[in-house]
Amino acid sequence: QTTVKTLLILGASGDLTGRLLLPGLARLVATGRAGGLRLVGAGSDPWPQEQWQDRVHTAFADAAGTADDAGKQALAALEEATAYRQLDVTADGPLASLLAELEGPVAVYFALPPHVSQKACEILQPGQVPAGTRLVMEKPFGSGEESARELNRTLLTLVPEDHIHRVDHFLGKATVLNILGLRFANNFLEPVWNRGHIAKVEIIFDEDLALEGRARYYDGAGALRDMIQSHLLQIMALMAIEPPATIGERDLRDAVAAVLRASSIKAPYQASTRRARYTAGSLDGRTVPDYVKEQGVDPGRNTETLAEVRVDIDNWRWKDVPFILRSGKALGEKRKEAVVTFRPVPHLPGGFTGIDAPNKLRIGFGPDTLELDVDVNGPGDIFRLDRTTLLAELSASELLPYGEVLEGVLTGDPLLSVRGDTAEECWRVIEPVLEAWARNAVPLEEYDAGTSGPEGRLGSARTD
Ligand code: BG6
Repeated sequence: QTTVKTLLILGASGDLTGRLLLPGLARLVATGRAGGLRLVGAGSDPWPQEQWQDRVHTAFADAAGTADDAGKQALAALEEATAYRQLDVTADGPLASLLAELEGPVAVYFALPPHVSQKACEILQPGQVPAGTRLVMEKPFGSGEESARELNRTLLTLVPEDHIHRVDHFLGKATVLNILGLRFANNFLEPVWNRGHIAKVEIIFDEDLALEGRARYYDGAGALRDMIQSHLLQIMALMAIEPPATIGERDLRDAVAAVLRASSIKAPYQASTRRARYTAGSLDGRTVPDYVKEQGVDPGRNTETLAEVRVDIDNWRWKDVPFILRSGKALGEKRKEAVVTFRPVPHLPGGFTGIDAPNKLRIGFGPDTLELDVDVNGPGDIFRLDRTTLLAELSASELLPYGEVLEGVLTGDPLLSVRGDTAEECWRVIEPVLEAWARNAVPLEEYDAGTSGPEGRLGSARTD
Protein backbone atom coordinates (compact mmCIF):
# COMPACT_ATOMS: atom_id res chain seq x y z
CA GLN A 1 0.00 0.00 0.00
CA THR A 2 1.32 3.45 -0.85
CA THR A 3 0.94 6.43 1.44
CA VAL A 4 -1.72 8.83 0.27
CA LYS A 5 -0.51 12.40 -0.10
CA THR A 6 -3.86 14.18 -0.34
CA LEU A 7 -6.66 14.16 2.20
CA LEU A 8 -9.95 15.50 0.88
CA ILE A 9 -12.52 16.17 3.59
CA LEU A 10 -16.11 16.39 2.38
CA GLY A 11 -18.21 18.19 4.98
CA ALA A 12 -15.35 20.57 5.77
CA SER A 13 -17.65 23.12 7.40
CA GLY A 14 -19.35 20.52 9.61
CA ASP A 15 -19.03 19.76 13.31
CA LEU A 16 -17.17 16.46 12.95
CA THR A 17 -14.41 18.09 10.92
CA GLY A 18 -13.84 20.95 13.36
CA ARG A 19 -14.23 19.03 16.62
CA LEU A 20 -12.60 15.69 15.84
CA LEU A 21 -10.98 15.26 12.43
CA LEU A 22 -8.77 18.33 12.30
CA PRO A 23 -7.51 18.01 15.92
CA GLY A 24 -6.80 14.31 15.25
CA LEU A 25 -4.93 15.21 12.08
CA ALA A 26 -3.00 17.95 13.88
CA ARG A 27 -1.36 15.52 16.33
CA LEU A 28 -0.46 13.23 13.47
CA VAL A 29 1.18 16.07 11.58
CA ALA A 30 2.86 17.48 14.70
CA THR A 31 4.50 14.13 15.50
CA GLY A 32 5.91 13.87 11.98
CA ARG A 33 3.65 11.00 10.98
CA ALA A 34 1.94 12.71 8.04
CA GLY A 35 4.83 14.37 6.25
CA GLY A 36 4.12 16.19 3.00
CA LEU A 37 0.35 15.84 3.26
CA ARG A 38 -1.91 18.12 1.24
CA LEU A 39 -5.29 18.93 2.83
CA VAL A 40 -8.30 19.97 0.80
CA GLY A 41 -11.61 20.86 2.44
CA ALA A 42 -14.86 20.81 0.51
CA GLY A 43 -18.29 21.88 1.67
CA SER A 44 -21.60 23.16 0.43
CA ASP A 45 -21.03 26.61 2.04
CA PRO A 46 -19.50 29.35 -0.12
CA TRP A 47 -16.57 29.92 2.21
CA PRO A 48 -13.72 32.21 1.24
CA GLN A 49 -10.35 30.47 1.42
CA GLU A 50 -9.39 32.37 4.61
CA GLN A 51 -12.41 31.08 6.50
CA TRP A 52 -11.30 27.49 5.97
CA GLN A 53 -7.72 28.35 6.84
CA ASP A 54 -8.94 29.99 10.05
CA ARG A 55 -10.88 26.89 10.89
CA VAL A 56 -7.85 24.69 10.35
CA HIS A 57 -5.69 27.08 12.37
CA THR A 58 -8.11 27.04 15.33
CA ALA A 59 -8.39 23.26 15.29
CA PHE A 60 -4.59 22.91 15.11
CA ALA A 61 -3.97 25.32 18.01
CA ASP A 62 -3.82 22.71 20.79
CA ALA A 63 -1.38 20.48 18.96
CA ALA A 64 0.72 23.47 17.88
CA GLY A 65 0.97 24.58 21.52
CA THR A 66 2.74 21.39 22.57
CA ALA A 67 4.61 20.52 19.36
CA ASP A 68 8.38 20.82 18.94
CA ASP A 69 9.81 23.17 16.30
CA ALA A 70 9.61 20.63 13.50
CA GLY A 71 6.00 19.87 14.44
CA LYS A 72 5.09 23.57 14.53
CA GLN A 73 6.61 24.05 11.10
CA ALA A 74 4.78 21.06 9.64
CA LEU A 75 1.46 22.34 11.00
CA ALA A 76 2.09 25.86 9.71
CA ALA A 77 3.04 24.55 6.25
CA LEU A 78 -0.11 22.47 6.02
CA GLU A 79 -2.29 25.40 7.13
CA GLU A 80 -0.67 27.68 4.61
CA ALA A 81 -1.16 25.30 1.70
CA THR A 82 -4.63 24.00 2.47
CA ALA A 83 -7.39 24.79 -0.01
CA TYR A 84 -11.17 25.01 0.21
CA ARG A 85 -13.64 24.13 -2.52
CA GLN A 86 -17.35 24.74 -2.59
CA LEU A 87 -18.92 21.53 -3.79
CA ASP A 88 -22.31 19.87 -4.02
CA VAL A 89 -21.42 16.20 -3.61
CA THR A 90 -24.94 15.10 -4.49
CA ALA A 91 -24.75 16.66 -7.96
CA ASP A 92 -23.53 14.60 -10.87
CA GLY A 93 -20.05 15.74 -11.86
CA PRO A 94 -18.39 18.12 -9.35
CA LEU A 95 -16.85 15.48 -7.08
CA ALA A 96 -15.62 13.44 -10.05
CA SER A 97 -14.00 16.55 -11.57
CA LEU A 98 -12.31 17.42 -8.29
CA LEU A 99 -10.90 13.89 -7.99
CA ALA A 100 -9.52 14.12 -11.53
CA GLU A 101 -8.02 17.51 -10.80
CA LEU A 102 -6.33 16.49 -7.53
CA GLU A 103 -4.20 13.80 -9.21
CA GLY A 104 -2.44 11.01 -7.40
CA PRO A 105 -4.12 8.79 -4.86
CA VAL A 106 -6.51 10.72 -2.64
CA ALA A 107 -8.20 9.70 0.62
CA VAL A 108 -11.77 10.99 0.46
CA TYR A 109 -13.25 11.42 3.94
CA PHE A 110 -17.06 11.56 3.88
CA ALA A 111 -17.66 13.65 7.03
CA LEU A 112 -21.29 14.03 6.02
CA PRO A 113 -24.69 12.76 7.18
CA PRO A 114 -25.02 9.10 6.09
CA HIS A 115 -27.71 9.66 3.48
CA VAL A 116 -25.61 12.37 1.82
CA SER A 117 -22.50 10.15 1.76
CA GLN A 118 -24.56 7.33 0.32
CA LYS A 119 -25.98 9.50 -2.42
CA ALA A 120 -22.54 10.90 -3.28
CA CYS A 121 -21.16 7.36 -3.66
CA GLU A 122 -24.11 6.24 -5.77
CA ILE A 123 -23.53 9.13 -8.18
CA LEU A 124 -19.83 8.36 -8.66
CA GLN A 125 -19.05 6.05 -11.55
CA PRO A 126 -16.19 3.51 -11.32
CA GLY A 127 -14.23 5.25 -14.11
CA GLN A 128 -14.37 8.52 -12.18
CA VAL A 129 -12.46 7.22 -9.18
CA PRO A 130 -8.69 7.20 -9.86
CA ALA A 131 -6.76 4.04 -8.94
CA GLY A 132 -5.49 4.11 -5.38
CA THR A 133 -8.34 6.30 -4.06
CA ARG A 134 -9.43 5.45 -0.53
CA LEU A 135 -12.98 6.04 0.63
CA VAL A 136 -13.48 6.83 4.29
CA MET A 137 -17.01 6.39 5.65
CA GLU A 138 -18.19 7.62 9.04
CA LYS A 139 -20.65 5.76 11.22
CA PRO A 140 -23.48 4.90 11.03
CA PHE A 141 -22.64 2.73 8.05
CA GLY A 142 -26.07 2.30 6.47
CA SER A 143 -29.26 2.20 8.49
CA GLY A 144 -29.76 -1.55 8.79
CA GLU A 145 -28.33 -4.83 7.52
CA GLU A 146 -29.85 -4.53 4.06
CA SER A 147 -28.86 -0.90 3.58
CA ALA A 148 -25.29 -1.64 4.81
CA ARG A 149 -25.14 -4.46 2.26
CA GLU A 150 -26.39 -2.13 -0.45
CA LEU A 151 -23.81 0.51 0.50
CA ASN A 152 -21.07 -2.13 0.49
CA ARG A 153 -22.12 -3.17 -3.00
CA THR A 154 -21.95 0.43 -4.22
CA LEU A 155 -18.53 1.08 -2.66
CA LEU A 156 -17.10 -2.14 -4.07
CA THR A 157 -17.93 -1.01 -7.59
CA LEU A 158 -15.68 1.99 -6.96
CA VAL A 159 -12.66 0.63 -5.02
CA PRO A 160 -11.53 -2.70 -3.54
CA GLU A 161 -12.43 -3.64 0.04
CA ASP A 162 -8.99 -2.80 1.45
CA HIS A 163 -9.39 0.78 0.14
CA ILE A 164 -12.63 1.28 2.10
CA HIS A 165 -12.19 2.61 5.63
CA ARG A 166 -15.37 2.32 7.70
CA VAL A 167 -14.52 4.44 10.69
CA ASP A 168 -15.17 3.40 14.26
CA HIS A 169 -13.04 5.79 16.26
CA PHE A 170 -13.23 3.53 19.33
CA LEU A 171 -10.80 1.27 17.46
CA GLY A 172 -8.36 4.18 17.66
CA LYS A 173 -8.64 4.49 21.44
CA ALA A 174 -5.43 3.36 23.10
CA THR A 175 -7.12 1.37 25.87
CA VAL A 176 -9.44 -0.38 23.47
CA LEU A 177 -6.39 -1.53 21.51
CA ASN A 178 -4.71 -2.43 24.76
CA ILE A 179 -7.29 -5.20 25.19
CA LEU A 180 -5.21 -7.04 22.60
CA GLY A 181 -1.91 -6.46 24.41
CA LEU A 182 -3.42 -7.38 27.74
CA ARG A 183 -5.00 -10.58 26.48
CA PHE A 184 -2.37 -11.88 24.13
CA ALA A 185 0.96 -10.74 25.58
CA ASN A 186 0.37 -12.02 29.12
CA ASN A 187 0.29 -15.71 29.81
CA PHE A 188 -1.64 -15.57 33.08
CA LEU A 189 -4.87 -14.34 31.53
CA GLU A 190 -5.66 -16.41 28.46
CA PRO A 191 -5.98 -19.79 30.25
CA VAL A 192 -8.83 -18.39 32.39
CA TRP A 193 -10.39 -16.28 29.63
CA ASN A 194 -13.38 -18.52 28.98
CA ARG A 195 -16.75 -19.71 30.24
CA GLY A 196 -15.11 -22.00 32.78
CA HIS A 197 -13.73 -19.05 34.73
CA ILE A 198 -15.67 -15.98 33.63
CA ALA A 199 -19.23 -15.44 34.83
CA LYS A 200 -20.06 -12.23 32.99
CA VAL A 201 -18.58 -9.43 30.88
CA GLU A 202 -20.01 -5.89 31.02
CA ILE A 203 -19.14 -3.15 28.58
CA ILE A 204 -20.41 0.13 29.93
CA PHE A 205 -20.27 3.57 28.37
CA ASP A 206 -22.26 5.89 30.61
CA GLU A 207 -21.87 9.53 29.63
CA ASP A 208 -22.57 12.67 31.61
CA LEU A 209 -23.21 14.52 28.36
CA ALA A 210 -26.81 15.14 27.35
CA LEU A 211 -27.99 15.86 23.80
CA GLU A 212 -25.53 18.74 23.26
CA GLY A 213 -27.49 20.16 20.33
CA ARG A 214 -27.24 16.97 18.26
CA ALA A 215 -30.98 16.32 17.95
CA ARG A 216 -30.90 16.24 14.16
CA TYR A 217 -28.73 13.16 14.20
CA TYR A 218 -29.36 11.64 17.62
CA ASP A 219 -33.16 11.75 17.68
CA GLY A 220 -33.22 9.54 14.59
CA ALA A 221 -30.60 7.21 16.04
CA GLY A 222 -30.93 6.65 19.81
CA ALA A 223 -28.45 4.93 22.12
CA LEU A 224 -28.74 1.45 20.60
CA ARG A 225 -27.77 2.57 17.10
CA ASP A 226 -25.45 5.36 18.20
CA MET A 227 -23.26 3.40 20.63
CA ILE A 228 -24.09 -0.30 20.81
CA GLN A 229 -24.42 -1.14 17.11
CA SER A 230 -20.95 0.26 16.49
CA HIS A 231 -18.54 1.04 19.32
CA LEU A 232 -19.62 -1.38 22.03
CA LEU A 233 -19.98 -4.39 19.72
CA GLN A 234 -16.45 -3.69 18.48
CA ILE A 235 -15.12 -3.64 22.05
CA MET A 236 -17.05 -6.81 22.81
CA ALA A 237 -15.52 -8.52 19.80
CA LEU A 238 -11.97 -7.64 20.93
CA MET A 239 -12.75 -8.94 24.41
CA ALA A 240 -14.05 -12.20 22.94
CA ILE A 241 -11.86 -13.02 19.90
CA GLU A 242 -9.72 -16.11 19.56
CA PRO A 243 -5.97 -15.38 19.63
CA PRO A 244 -5.05 -14.31 16.09
CA ALA A 245 -1.80 -15.45 14.50
CA THR A 246 -0.83 -11.86 13.76
CA ILE A 247 -2.16 -8.38 14.49
CA GLY A 248 -2.53 -7.87 10.78
CA GLU A 249 -5.70 -6.66 9.14
CA ARG A 250 -6.62 -10.07 7.75
CA ASP A 251 -6.05 -12.19 10.85
CA LEU A 252 -7.46 -9.69 13.32
CA ARG A 253 -10.50 -8.75 11.27
CA ASP A 254 -11.24 -12.43 10.51
CA ALA A 255 -11.24 -13.13 14.26
CA VAL A 256 -13.55 -10.15 14.93
CA ALA A 257 -15.95 -11.23 12.20
CA ALA A 258 -16.09 -14.78 13.61
CA VAL A 259 -17.17 -13.48 17.03
CA LEU A 260 -19.85 -11.25 15.58
CA ARG A 261 -21.23 -14.03 13.42
CA ALA A 262 -21.71 -16.10 16.59
CA SER A 263 -23.39 -13.23 18.45
CA SER A 264 -27.07 -12.53 18.95
CA ILE A 265 -29.52 -10.91 21.31
CA LYS A 266 -32.09 -13.51 22.18
CA ALA A 267 -35.84 -13.15 22.59
CA PRO A 268 -37.80 -12.50 24.76
CA TYR A 269 -36.49 -8.95 24.46
CA GLN A 270 -38.17 -7.81 27.69
CA ALA A 271 -35.60 -10.04 29.41
CA SER A 272 -32.57 -9.34 27.22
CA THR A 273 -32.91 -5.59 26.60
CA ARG A 274 -33.80 -2.33 28.33
CA ARG A 275 -34.41 1.13 26.99
CA ALA A 276 -34.99 4.41 28.76
CA ARG A 277 -34.82 8.14 28.21
CA TYR A 278 -33.97 10.99 30.50
CA THR A 279 -36.31 13.49 32.04
CA ALA A 280 -35.34 16.87 33.50
CA GLY A 281 -32.61 16.96 36.08
CA SER A 282 -29.40 18.58 37.09
CA LEU A 283 -26.11 17.65 35.50
CA ASP A 284 -22.87 19.17 36.78
CA GLY A 285 -24.84 22.09 38.20
CA ARG A 286 -26.63 22.71 34.88
CA THR A 287 -30.34 22.18 34.50
CA VAL A 288 -31.16 19.74 31.73
CA PRO A 289 -34.70 19.70 30.31
CA ASP A 290 -36.73 16.57 29.58
CA TYR A 291 -35.22 14.86 26.55
CA VAL A 292 -38.51 15.30 24.70
CA LYS A 293 -38.39 19.05 25.32
CA GLU A 294 -34.88 19.44 23.86
CA GLN A 295 -34.86 21.49 20.68
CA GLY A 296 -35.39 19.40 17.56
CA VAL A 297 -36.69 16.29 19.36
CA ASP A 298 -39.82 14.59 18.06
CA PRO A 299 -41.49 12.91 21.09
CA GLY A 300 -43.36 10.59 18.71
CA ARG A 301 -40.13 8.81 17.81
CA ASN A 302 -39.75 7.36 21.32
CA THR A 303 -35.98 7.69 21.03
CA GLU A 304 -34.08 6.06 23.88
CA THR A 305 -31.14 7.84 25.51
CA LEU A 306 -30.07 4.73 27.38
CA ALA A 307 -29.88 1.21 26.01
CA GLU A 308 -28.78 -2.01 27.61
CA VAL A 309 -28.66 -5.42 25.95
CA ARG A 310 -27.47 -8.92 26.75
CA VAL A 311 -25.50 -10.41 23.88
CA ASP A 312 -24.83 -14.14 23.72
CA ILE A 313 -21.84 -15.48 21.85
CA ASP A 314 -22.70 -19.01 20.90
CA ASN A 315 -19.33 -20.66 20.59
CA TRP A 316 -17.22 -23.09 22.61
CA ARG A 317 -15.46 -20.39 24.62
CA TRP A 318 -18.43 -18.20 25.56
CA LYS A 319 -21.65 -20.26 25.52
CA ASP A 320 -24.05 -18.89 28.19
CA VAL A 321 -21.71 -16.13 29.42
CA PRO A 322 -23.73 -12.89 29.33
CA PHE A 323 -22.08 -9.96 27.61
CA ILE A 324 -23.97 -6.93 28.91
CA LEU A 325 -23.58 -3.82 26.75
CA ARG A 326 -24.92 -0.55 28.04
CA SER A 327 -24.68 3.10 27.18
CA GLY A 328 -26.63 6.10 28.33
CA LYS A 329 -26.59 9.89 28.16
CA ALA A 330 -27.12 12.50 30.89
CA LEU A 331 -26.08 10.18 33.68
CA GLY A 332 -24.76 11.48 37.00
CA GLU A 333 -21.63 9.39 36.92
CA LYS A 334 -19.34 8.98 33.96
CA ARG A 335 -18.46 5.31 33.73
CA LYS A 336 -16.58 3.97 30.72
CA GLU A 337 -15.19 0.52 31.22
CA ALA A 338 -15.25 -3.17 30.45
CA VAL A 339 -15.70 -5.28 33.57
CA VAL A 340 -14.93 -8.99 33.61
CA THR A 341 -16.45 -10.82 36.58
CA PHE A 342 -14.78 -14.13 37.32
CA ARG A 343 -16.53 -17.13 38.83
CA PRO A 344 -16.15 -17.72 42.58
CA VAL A 345 -13.42 -20.06 43.80
CA PRO A 346 -14.64 -23.69 43.69
CA HIS A 347 -14.15 -24.04 47.44
CA LEU A 348 -13.26 -21.41 50.01
CA PRO A 349 -11.34 -23.19 52.77
CA GLY A 350 -13.31 -23.27 56.01
CA GLY A 351 -12.03 -20.78 58.56
CA PHE A 352 -12.02 -17.73 56.29
CA THR A 353 -14.54 -15.04 57.19
CA GLY A 354 -15.60 -11.77 55.59
CA ILE A 355 -16.73 -11.12 52.08
CA ASP A 356 -15.88 -13.63 49.46
CA ALA A 357 -16.52 -11.53 46.35
CA PRO A 358 -15.62 -12.64 42.85
CA ASN A 359 -12.52 -11.20 41.20
CA LYS A 360 -13.18 -8.42 38.75
CA LEU A 361 -10.94 -7.06 36.06
CA ARG A 362 -11.80 -3.54 34.93
CA ILE A 363 -10.45 -1.96 31.79
CA GLY A 364 -11.17 1.77 31.98
CA PHE A 365 -11.62 3.69 28.72
CA GLY A 366 -10.92 7.18 29.98
CA PRO A 367 -9.27 7.64 32.30
CA ASP A 368 -7.25 4.74 30.91
CA THR A 369 -6.78 2.28 33.72
CA LEU A 370 -6.52 -1.40 34.54
CA GLU A 371 -7.90 -2.56 37.87
CA LEU A 372 -8.03 -5.99 39.39
CA ASP A 373 -10.22 -6.57 42.44
CA VAL A 374 -8.80 -9.33 44.61
CA ASP A 375 -9.49 -10.76 48.06
CA VAL A 376 -6.57 -10.83 50.49
CA ASN A 377 -6.08 -11.54 54.15
CA GLY A 378 -6.99 -8.37 56.02
CA PRO A 379 -5.30 -6.67 58.96
CA GLY A 380 -6.28 -7.82 62.46
CA ASP A 381 -7.85 -11.24 62.15
CA ILE A 382 -5.66 -12.56 59.36
CA PHE A 383 -8.29 -15.00 58.14
CA ARG A 384 -10.82 -12.27 57.62
CA LEU A 385 -10.88 -11.53 53.92
CA ASP A 386 -10.43 -8.02 52.69
CA ARG A 387 -11.09 -6.65 49.23
CA THR A 388 -8.32 -4.70 47.61
CA THR A 389 -7.64 -3.35 44.14
CA LEU A 390 -4.47 -3.53 42.09
CA LEU A 391 -4.51 -0.41 39.97
CA ALA A 392 -2.47 0.59 36.92
CA GLU A 393 -2.90 4.01 35.38
CA LEU A 394 -1.97 3.84 31.73
CA SER A 395 -0.25 6.74 30.05
CA ALA A 396 -2.16 8.62 27.40
CA SER A 397 -1.38 7.84 23.79
CA GLU A 398 0.47 10.32 21.59
CA LEU A 399 -2.37 10.42 19.08
CA LEU A 400 -6.07 11.09 19.54
CA PRO A 401 -8.42 8.30 18.37
CA TYR A 402 -9.13 10.16 15.12
CA GLY A 403 -5.38 10.56 14.63
CA GLU A 404 -4.94 6.77 14.81
CA VAL A 405 -7.81 6.31 12.39
CA LEU A 406 -6.36 8.86 9.95
CA GLU A 407 -2.92 7.31 10.13
CA GLY A 408 -4.43 4.02 8.95
CA VAL A 409 -6.24 5.85 6.17
CA LEU A 410 -3.15 7.71 4.95
CA THR A 411 -0.78 4.73 5.12
CA GLY A 412 -3.38 2.42 3.57
CA ASP A 413 -3.72 0.08 6.54
CA PRO A 414 -7.36 -0.92 7.07
CA LEU A 415 -6.59 -2.73 10.37
CA LEU A 416 -8.43 -0.17 12.50
CA SER A 417 -11.43 0.13 10.24
CA VAL A 418 -14.52 -2.03 10.19
CA ARG A 419 -14.62 -4.63 7.41
CA GLY A 420 -17.71 -4.75 5.21
CA ASP A 421 -19.04 -8.10 6.43
CA THR A 422 -18.60 -7.00 10.05
CA ALA A 423 -20.54 -3.80 9.47
CA GLU A 424 -23.44 -5.92 8.19
CA GLU A 425 -23.17 -8.37 11.12
CA CYS A 426 -23.39 -5.54 13.66
CA TRP A 427 -26.73 -4.51 12.18
CA ARG A 428 -27.91 -8.12 12.09
CA VAL A 429 -27.25 -8.41 15.84
CA ILE A 430 -29.33 -5.38 16.82
CA GLU A 431 -32.04 -5.35 14.16
CA PRO A 432 -34.47 -7.73 15.95
CA VAL A 433 -34.24 -5.45 18.99
CA LEU A 434 -34.93 -2.35 16.93
CA GLU A 435 -38.02 -4.10 15.56
CA ALA A 436 -39.20 -5.23 19.00
CA TRP A 437 -38.75 -1.72 20.39
CA ALA A 438 -40.60 -0.19 17.45
CA ARG A 439 -43.55 -2.51 18.30
CA ASN A 440 -43.29 -1.31 21.92
CA ALA A 441 -42.63 -4.88 23.04
CA VAL A 442 -40.23 -3.46 25.63
CA PRO A 443 -41.39 -0.52 27.78
CA LEU A 444 -39.57 2.79 27.41
CA GLU A 445 -38.50 3.64 30.96
CA GLU A 446 -37.51 7.04 32.31
CA TYR A 447 -34.71 8.33 34.52
CA ASP A 448 -33.91 11.78 35.80
CA ALA A 449 -30.89 13.41 34.21
CA GLY A 450 -28.00 13.38 36.66
CA THR A 451 -28.98 10.08 38.31
CA SER A 452 -27.51 6.64 37.72
CA GLY A 453 -30.26 5.61 35.30
CA PRO A 454 -33.48 3.67 35.69
CA GLU A 455 -34.05 1.43 38.68
CA GLY A 456 -33.50 -2.28 38.42
CA ARG A 457 -31.06 -4.21 36.39
CA LEU A 458 -30.50 -6.43 33.41
CA GLY A 459 -28.28 -9.41 34.09
CA SER A 460 -27.17 -7.40 37.13
CA ALA A 461 -25.30 -4.94 34.92
CA ARG A 462 -25.84 -2.21 37.45
CA THR A 463 -24.30 -3.89 40.46
CA ASP A 464 -20.83 -3.21 41.75
C1 BG6 B 1 -19.88 9.04 19.13
C2 BG6 B 1 -21.33 9.09 19.49
O1 BG6 B 1 -19.67 8.14 18.07
O2 BG6 B 1 -19.13 8.64 20.26
C3 BG6 B 1 -21.55 10.05 20.64
O3 BG6 B 1 -22.09 9.51 18.36
C4 BG6 B 1 -20.66 9.69 21.81
O4 BG6 B 1 -22.92 10.05 21.04
C5 BG6 B 1 -19.21 9.54 21.35
O5 BG6 B 1 -20.75 10.72 22.77
C6 BG6 B 1 -18.33 9.03 22.47
O6 BG6 B 1 -17.01 8.97 22.02
P1 BG6 B 1 -15.85 9.73 22.76
O7 BG6 B 1 -14.61 9.43 21.96
O8 BG6 B 1 -16.22 11.17 22.75
O9 BG6 B 1 -15.78 9.18 24.13
